[in-house]
This record gives sequence, C-alpha cells and structure tokens, in this order.
Amino acid sequence: MVDINKLVDTKASTQSKEVFWDQEVYDREIKNIFGRSWLFLTHECMLEKKGDFITTKMAEDSVIVTRHTDGSLKAFVNSCTHRGNSICSADSGNTKSFVCNYHGWVFSTDGKLVDVPLREKCYHDELDRDSLSLKTIRVESYRGFVFGCFDETAPSLEDFLGDWGWYLDTWMVGAGEGAELVGPPMKSILKCNWKVPTENFVGDGYHVGWTHASALHVLGGELGGLAGNQAEMPFDELGIQVTTRHGHGFGVIDNAAIAIHAKRDEYAKYMEETIPKVAENLGEPRAKLFNGHWNCSTFPNCSFLYGTNIFKVWHPRGPHEIEVWSWVIVHKDMSDEGKREVVKQAVRSFGTAGTLESDDGDNMVQSTHVNRGNYTREGTMNSTMGQGYEGEHPDYPGIVGSSFIGETSYRGFYRFYQEMMSADSWDDIRANDEHWADCFPNKNYWKDRIAAKAAE
Ligand code: FES
Ligand code: FE
Repeated sequence: MVDINKLVDTKASTQSKEVFWDQEVYDREIKNIFGRSWLFLTHECMLEKKGDFITTKMAEDSVIVTRHTDGSLKAFVNSCTHRGNSICSADSGNTKSFVCNYHGWVFSTDGKLVDVPLREKCYHDELDRDSLSLKTIRVESYRGFVFGCFDETAPSLEDFLGDWGWYLDTWMVGAGEGAELVGPPMKSILKCNWKVPTENFVGDGYHVGWTHASALHVLGGELGGLAGNQAEMPFDELGIQVTTRHGHGFGVIDNAAIAIHAKRDEYAKYMEETIPKVAENLGEPRAKLFNGHWNCSTFPNCSFLYGTNIFKVWHPRGPHEIEVWSWVIVHKDMSDEGKREVVKQAVRSFGTAGTLESDDGDNMVQSTHVNRGNYTREGTMNSTMGQGYEGEHPDYPGIVGSSFIGETSYRGFYRFYQEMMSADSWDDIRANDEHWADCFPNKNYWKDRIAAKAAE
C-alpha cells in the first residue's frame, strides 16, 4: 500500500519509485496537482482576433480557449452540457459559435448556451439555458503566455509564478518587445510518466554530456561550447541552478546562447545587439542569464529550453504515457530570417524527431517502465547532488545552487510536489509560504562564499 504522504523524503532527498508508476498516486496528482495548479494553455499570438480559438488539454480534460467578442480570453471544458459530447474537434480556428455535433446545441465564444434545436416544441420552452453554459475555467495571461486553473481558491497566476516570473521576464520581456511561440505545436506520444521529462528539464544538466554525447559530437560545430563529453561539461561558476516557491526551477549555463548559435548570423547579431538593451531594461544579472542556456520547468508540466528555444507541455495520459506538445520560442523583435534560423535549429534538436529529443525519449520510457517490477518499486530515487552547496543569493531570488549541474531544482520540485499531494487545500499550502525553503539548510552558502572570496 503506497503512503501518499511519504512519497518524498525532503531530508534524505529521495523519492519513492511509485511516483512513476502507481495508479493511486496518479489519481491523486490529477486531483491535487493538476486540479489546483496553473497549467499552460497557449500563447496570445495564437488568439489575436475575436473568435480565434484553440483546443488543448488540462491534464486529461479537453478544453477550449477563445478570444471572445469583447476581446477577453475565455476557457471552458470541451464537453456539451446536454449529453456530454465534445463540442469542438478542431485544433484551432476562428468561429462565431460552437455547434455540438450530436444534437446541435449552440454555444457562444464565452461558453454560453445560445441556441437549442426544437426548444419550443420538445422542451416546451422550459429549458433554463443560463444554467447550461459550458463549465468555465479561470484563465490568466503572463507576458502573453496563457494559463488556466480549475481551482477558484488558487492564487493569481502572477502569485503562483512568484519569483519564477522574475526569471521568466529575462526573455519574456527581455529588451522590451518580449517573446512569442511559433505554432501550431508539434505533437507526439511518449510512453513515460509525466514527471520524468518535467524533472529532467527542471534540473538535469548532469545527463547532457553523457546521454547526448554522440549527438553533441556530431553537432559539435553547431552547439559551440556544449560539444564534448561529460567530463568536459562546465562545472562551478559556469552557471547556477535555481528553485523557487511552488516548485518552478531551472539550470543555466552561462554565455551559452551565442555559442550555440555562433553559425547563425542573424541570431548572433540579434543577441549581440540585444544583450546591452536587456542590461539597461532589467539589470546586469538578467542580461547575463539572457545569454545563457536554460533547462526549465514551470510546475507542474510545462518545460522549456531557452537558448535552444523549445517550449513543451507534457500532457499526462495515465501514469505511464504522455502527449508531448512542442512550440518554438522566438523574440518578437527578431528579423524573419533570425526567427527562421531559430525554428530550424529548435526543430532539428528538440522537435518531435529531433536528434537530442530521441536520446531523451529512450531514457524517459525506460525510467518509467522499469517500475513494472514489484520489488523494483520498493526502492527510492536519489537527488542529493549539490545538497548544502545552495542558498540565498544576493543577485538571484529563490534558492540558488552552485552549478548548473546539480539537483537543487529537483529537490525544490519534489518538495512542492509532496506539499501539494498532502495538502487539503490552497490554505494549507499558503500556511507554508514563510517556511518553504527550510529544507535547504545552508541558506548562507552564497554569503559565506562571497565573503571568503573577498578575503582571499
Ligand atoms: Fe451536445 Fe446533445 S450532446 S447537443
Ligand atoms: Fe536531454
């Protein structure tokens, strides 16, 4: 019997292997995590005109997101309030209304039931249309990135992101114009648990020089400083790893973006011109990050690589399967040629059939399905790398680890995962706001390290 309140040991930094396999754990995740968190839906650039819509998933629920006639964003569950059929089967489009395929009920772009065939004759004009709107979902946008939340008691999207928003602004605001996604998303199915790629993206710089060694040797010329093997990967002082409240986090390799794109003239030119503007707009610490390569996850299931510019959502389909949706990140003020260079590079590396994507997919599937074994699942997984070499940093919010190769952000992700799995409500979670980082005991790590360096 799995004890859902003891899946994660934050002191030992271990996780039960049941988190990748057990159906009961998965069912609780759907309710406690996907039912309460802000989940990525789309980017506003895909909903520019009134009547534009996209369909997507929030966990296993199909949802529709629209630009309503008053210009506001709306989101609702894609299930008819008559007999439950889905009312939209298109991925995207522009419409005045949604007409259910089954009996023809008509819903407006804000989800209201506006017409019912044979309403007078068969319902005797007694149907209460106002009570039969589609089930609405909270929808909010951060720098044009649109998220939805099922839980009315959850904090605002901005508060849910918290300090993570400070980091996201590095490229979502940048020099001022911001960023957008190139869609429609590439889609594929992967037979793995949704947390395997989420944890990989949130903090796994460790695997890059090993899992991707062959690909990096082949692509070496293109990936600049990242070429080589694990032993040659940069360590201390060549990047940091960060976790913030609510489990968001990332690892960043310094000065990697220009190196990766060194052969792409337009991109390199864009970066060289833009970095000083980012410094002016957001300050030096974020200008430094702007030219980094980031591996990141926004809790719970939205990940991206900034630098290789791929943006992904891992939609769960049961404990052992996900649907992977991938877009490409581009800066709005890049030239068209610069955007084309970024899209080509991102698709070739981390698109559905990308070189590095295929390397990762193999590990994702194996890490999940090895847990088919009953005795295997009695074991735990370890995320102790860099424990104690992390703390509060004068320039960067959250808990900051000393190298981009570490497991600080794994620990932060699973700490919040357990908090959500055990909590009865957002009130329980809010009660921990002051103390969330107590499991990172060496908070003065950076203060001591900077003082020691100054004394040298
Ligand atoms: Fe939609 Fe009947 S199920 S109109
Ligand atoms: Fe990888």
